[in-house]
Amino acid sequence: MESITPRNIRDTASRYTEDTIRIRRHLHANPELSFQEKETAEYISSLLHDWGIPHRTGEGDGHGIVAEISGTGQGPTVALRADMDALPIREETGLEYASRNPGVMHACGHDFHTASLLSAARVLKDISGQFSGTVRCLFQPAEEKIPGGAVGMIRHGVLDGVSCIIGQHVNPELPAGTAGFREGLFMASVDDVFLTVKGRGGHGAKPHQNLDPVVTAAQIVVALQQIVSRNADPLQATVLSFGRFIADGATNIIPDQALLSGTFRAMNEEWRDLALTRIREISDGVARALGADCTVEIRRGYPALENDPGLTERLRSDAHRFLGADAVRTLPPAMWAEDFAYYCREIPGCFYNIGVAEPNRCPGAAVHTSGFRIDESALGTGYALMVWFALQELTRASQN
Ligand code: NI
Repeated sequence: MESITPRNIRDTASRYTEDTIRIRRHLHANPELSFQEKETAEYISSLLHDWGIPHRTGEGDGHGIVAEISGTGQGPTVALRADMDALPIREETGLEYASRNPGVMHACGHDFHTASLLSAARVLKDISGQFSGTVRCLFQPAEEKIPGGAVGMIRHGVLDGVSCIIGQHVNPELPAGTAGFREGLFMASVDDVFLTVKGRGGHGAKPHQNLDPVVTAAQIVVALQQIVSRNADPLQATVLSFGRFIADGATNIIPDQALLSGTFRAMNEEWRDLALTRIREISDGVARALGADCTVEIRRGYPALENDPGLTERLRSDAHRFLGADAVRTLPPAMWAEDFAYYCREIPGCFYNIGVAEPNRCPGAAVHTSGFRIDESALGTGYALMVWFALQELTRASQN
């Protein structure tokens, strides 16, 4: 068996640089929303089919795909994961391969993740004579929408027999050619909060004859911030943001109700449960005090993402060897959320970041914005690094 070195991975990977760019551009031009990734899944499947890579379609809650590449000898199974859904954003990049699907955009790099995993699978197939064990590639739908596609994938048994799982996410705050790591707690839990404040509408000139839901809702928003500033341990990362406040009256019309939607994020399950209870109690209490009524709906989302410290440390030093010490960064935890967190609760997992900013325009436009774009040179790093990580883990496992 030939030994696997960074150089021979890079050499094999470089065959597919152009193809990977082409694939990613195709995905970028044809984005689909969460749980609707039908054509994306068909495209992935047709490529895997052309390359002779065995795979199952219809995994998870509809459009998931699981591909497997086995080496020559017995060994463990390592999983690589990519998400494939896009966002309800109108693209404004002006790129020649910009979205052809109006109002839908790959603004979170999931096109990059999918193209990378496809090329990683292709490289692994080419060198399958050089390793023992199996690499399972998970193409997961619906990362962007609660309850998240990962839940269905796990329910369908995609982690059965898997020793660890590795996933990457683009980061426009890191330059192309770099990768970032965080051992332990990395990302927050997320819950969607919906409040309906019911009052009694009427003429704006006669407030004493009505029950104003706008003033009540405004007080609730302010009161709920006390959860963050007074109930949370000051050392406990937590955020509550309301991005939607709908009160559809007019200058002189007090409406019957006001609607609020927000996001609650935390890094600790016990605190999360307590805070969600406080959201209910305070919303209800403030509304009652003012004579109004408030219904609270909470859609529980993803748990906090905790990287396995041992696995993450190993991959960090693998990245050192593959990319050079300067290209390996340490990331701070942040209040983003990711359904990769579910995999990490089942088996050791590592979710790392891959730099995609053009080196002279770093940081680039943020993810989830209409101007988000990547430096395509990062794609080569994206899939070669995944191959390298998977093979290093398989090699270590076979030596133990
Ligand atoms: Ni994303």
